[in-house]
Amino acid sequence: MPVIRVDQIDQYGGQEVTIRGWVYNKTHKGKLIFLLIRDGYGFVQCVVFKNDIDPELFEQIIRLQQESSVIVTGLVREDSRAPGVPGGFEIGVRQLEIVQSAEEDYPMALKEHGVDFALDHRHLWLRMPSQWAILRIRSTVIDAIREWLDKNGFINMDTPILTPAACEGTTTLFETPYFDEGVAYLAQSGQLYNEANIYAFGKVYCFGPTFRAEKSKTRRHLTEFWMVEPEAAFCDLDQLIEYEEQFVTYIVQRVLKERAAELKSLERDTSALEKIAPPFPRISYDKALEMLAQIRDEEQDPEQKELLNIEWGMDFGSPHETALTARFDKPVFVYGYPTQVKAFYMEPWPGRPEVCKSVDLLAPEGYGEIIGGSERISSYELLLQRLHEHSLPEEAFKWYLDLRRFGSVPHSGFGMGVERTVSWLCGISHIRETIPFPRTIKRVYP
Ligand code: 4AD
Ligand code: MG
Repeated sequence: MPVIRVDQIDQYGGQEVTIRGWVYNKTHKGKLIFLLIRDGYGFVQCVVFKNDIDPELFEQIIRLQQESSVIVTGLVREDSRAPGVPGGFEIGVRQLEIVQSAEEDYPMALKEHGVDFALDHRHLWLRMPSQWAILRIRSTVIDAIREWLDKNGFINMDTPILTPAACEGTTTLFETPYFDEGVAYLAQSGQLYNEANIYAFGKVYCFGPTFRAEKSKTRRHLTEFWMVEPEAAFCDLDQLIEYEEQFVTYIVQRVLKERAAELKSLERDTSALEKIAPPFPRISYDKALEMLAQIRDEEQDPEQKELLNIEWGMDFGSPHETALTARFDKPVFVYGYPTQVKAFYMEPWPGRPEVCKSVDLLAPEGYGEIIGGSERISSYELLLQRLHEHSLPEEAFKWYLDLRRFGSVPHSGFGMGVERTVSWLCGISHIRETIPFPRTIKRVYP
């Protein structure tokens, strides 16, 4: 009998097949038992009719607990009412082998669980349909990221995780003892190394885990997250924005095409995602502040009004990004942030040194920043000055300064957070569900 994958069951109508998986749900009505079996690829209804199988096995199946592992053989029947993902087919069971009969006290039994309880049982929570769907979408996002970059001339360069210095500010560094060198830090970004890599390869990207000792307990922050960081030589801010638009659109389209069943099972409104196509709106930081002032004026709730307070020179917080992007149905570029709130390496705006050539991409429907990027300083003197202004140790950045001494060119790059992107695409409120084992300020278990 062919062992099939549940996501390909539509190719086997009328045939006898075998599936290997786990019991997700079970209902028993007289001579019928309905098993909802998941095999890692999908969920399918398997119908056991008493007359079709050994009477003793029928009794054993009645007693089967959720999560028992089974090998089921039977006839595939098309039935539009059959539940499951993708659904529409069921299996009439002829044989069932119990691989392991699960214990009775399954912690993640089918009822409502508090979030902390679910997170403590993340190793089991992963089996639930919602988590399964989110993480399959994540996998497609990652594949689409690599595919777009590889096809558009970006070379993959793996940058180090153990690093001697900060990239994105010294307040969020994880420190680790490092032999005779004293300490090393877990990478906050691979960008600085990619700036070296572009001088050998032109366009590059790194893609890996990133670490931030963020004190923030928001629904958008993890302490360990995955970031893809493309970097390109001879690239200005406008070119960077065009890359980002194409890149994000491609990812959205791949997910819509390949993960329709998962999006449906998450009840994601896909019409919102179908609208994603270039060009995305572009607004300056100054303009964004004007819009926020207006949103604030219209806000009735005094507490919310208070949260929306902002003055020129301040960075946006989550409430600002949420309020702003709730007004757009496409991702929106906000460019030209105040230099004082951004990283030391950003190129100043020509004629306006208080503003830098930075651009953030904010996802619509209130999701907020998914990409941060900029044009980088290409002048040796200015970079040195910035290192001093930010009290960064010149010695640790000696190699980085060299890049401005030997063939420096205008260059730009960005970093996209995988988990924030997946949250938006799945339409879920908290980033912790978008990575298999989330790490936050309060959690390193399991
Ligand atoms: O804006 P960030 O800090 O930019 C950089 O690290 C640049 N060096 C990237 C570059 O230009 N090469 O981070 C980029 C993205 C954010 O937009 C967000 O999506 C994600 O990384 N991110 C986080 N995701 C989850 N938890 C956190 N604590 C995050 N911090 C940033
Ligand atoms: Mg940022």
